Amino acid sequence: MPTITIASSKGGCGKSTTAVALASEFKSAGTDVCIIDADAQATVFNWHRRRTANSAASEIRVFYAGDISRDTEIISIIEDAKQKYRVVLIDVAGVQSQRMQYAVSRSDYWIIPQQATSPDAAATNALLKNDMLAIQTMRGGLPIAHKVLITRTNPLIVSNNARYVIEETAKVVPTFSDELHQYDAFAAMDLYAKTLDEIQADENAKADKARAITQSIIRELLEDMSNPATANKEAVS
Ligand SMILES: Nc1ncnc2c1ncn2[C@@H]1O[C@H](COP(=O)(O)OP(=O)(O)OP(=O)(O)O)[C@@H](O)[C@H]1O
Ligand SMILES: [Mg+2]
Repeated sequence: MPTITIASSKGGCGKSTTAVALASEFKSAGTDVCIIDADAQATVFNWHRRRTANSAASEIRVFYAGDISRDTEIISIIEDAKQKYRVVLIDVAGVQSQRMQYAVSRSDYWIIPQQATSPDAAATNALLKNDMLAIQTMRGGLPIAHKVLITRTNPLIVSNNARYVIEETAKVVPTFSDELHQYDAFAAMDLYAKTLDEIQADENAKADKARAITQSIIRELLEDMSNPATANKEAVS
């Protein structure tokens, strides 16, 4: 089972939302999952704190690593979590950092959330150009399976601009076949400190679609991991 870092140098592209959505669906499938929140902003850690304040237990464990003094400390935190959980998800701050590089280097898979906008696409290009090389060096030359996850797109109308960005992105980096569309259910997780299945139980109209997308992303990344060539094709060699 995988260790997955969800990282981009771009703020607000949906990293924490992706981490919590994936954790929700791994948990719903009965998989032992934890999230390491390596962002000082503590979005996921606070989500978890509010959950545990509301109910006795939260099946999704969250470890806070936003306050480590040296970026290399993230390595032992990840390695320790790998021993205890079947799936380890790592959420990092939306800045270019060595902490992000170390986290990705210790993962099996790197999800790069990206909105269909030019600043987000520029951030992806910079990650592939600059960070990928450092990450591969940290891995002793081993490539890292990675895909861009297009986020926050309108599920009903794709603007010409968005389509253009998505097509240009797909030319330079593998992308997930599904997009993490802009749905209230995704935003509701943080707002109400809930998982996607709990939002669905509240009869949120689009939670079923949000769950289906998240499950499809999980299926795709597990498939990629059993056939790494598909997600590695743009890796620096
Ligand atoms: N697919 C989505 N549908 C609806 N809302 C979303 C979606 N993705 C993200 N959001 C909302 O956008 C905001 C930013 O998302 P999020 O916190 O996940 O981004 P981030 O990349 O982790 O940001 P940061 O760089 O600050 O850590 C949040 O309010 C979140 O609820
Ligand atoms: Mg975040």
